Amino acid sequence: ITILPTDYTIRPILRSDFHRGYLDVLRVLTTVGEISEEAWNKRFDWIRSRNDEYYLLVVCDGEDRVVGTGSLLVERKFIHSLGMVGHIEDIAVEKNQQGKKLGLRIIQALDHVAAQVGCYKSILDCSEANEGFYVKCGFKRAGLEMAHYY
Ligand code: ACO
Repeated sequence: ITILPTDYTIRPILRSDFHRGYLDVLRVLTTVGEISEEAWNKRFDWIRSRNDEYYLLVVCDGEDRVVGTGSLLVERKFIHSLGMVGHIEDIAVEKNQQGKKLGLRIIQALDHVAAQVGCYKSILDCSEANEGFYVKCGFKRAGLEMAHYY
C-alpha cells in the first residue's frame, strides 16, 4: 500500500466536504456546474442512503482541504452466480497535488473496498492519456468504451 504524505488523510466523503473544496477538485476532471449547498445536500443524502452501493473517498491535505477524490459503484448482477462488479468513477487529484501518488492511493483504497465487499473485478473507462496511470495501478486494457449521449 502506498503511504500518503505526512498529515494527509484518506476517508469517506462527508457532507461538510462541500466547504473543503470538494467540487473544485472535481473540476480538474470535467464540467461540474454551479451547485448550491442545498442541491449538494440533497444529492449527498441520496448517495449516502445507498451506502452499500456508493463508496466515495477523499484525500485531504494537512490543512483539511480536499485534494483528491474517487468513487466506486458496486453493481449487483445475476450472472456469475449473483456476482458483483466494481465501477471506478471520477478519479481526480488537484492540479498542484498531482504526482504525489495520491491517485494511486485512491485507486488502491477503492480496489480494497471492491474486493472486501465481494466484487470479482473492477472496471473503468479512461482516455488514452490516462492509460499509463491505470496500468501502474494494476489495470489492463479490456474491451472498448461506447457512449450514447442524450
Ligand atoms: N500517464 C502515465 N503515467 C501516469 C499518468 C499518466 N497520465 N499519471 C500518473 N502516472 C504515473 C505516475 O508517474 C506514477 O508513476 P510511478 O509510480 O512510476 O512514479 C503513477 O502513475 C502514480 O501516479 P500518481 O502520482 O498516483 O498520480 P496522480 O496523483 O497525479 O493522479 C490522475 C493521476 C488521477 C490521472 C490525475 O493526474 C488527475 O486527476 N488527472 C485529471 C483528471 C483525470 O483525468 N482523472 C482520471 C479520469 S478517468 C476515471 O475517472 C475513471
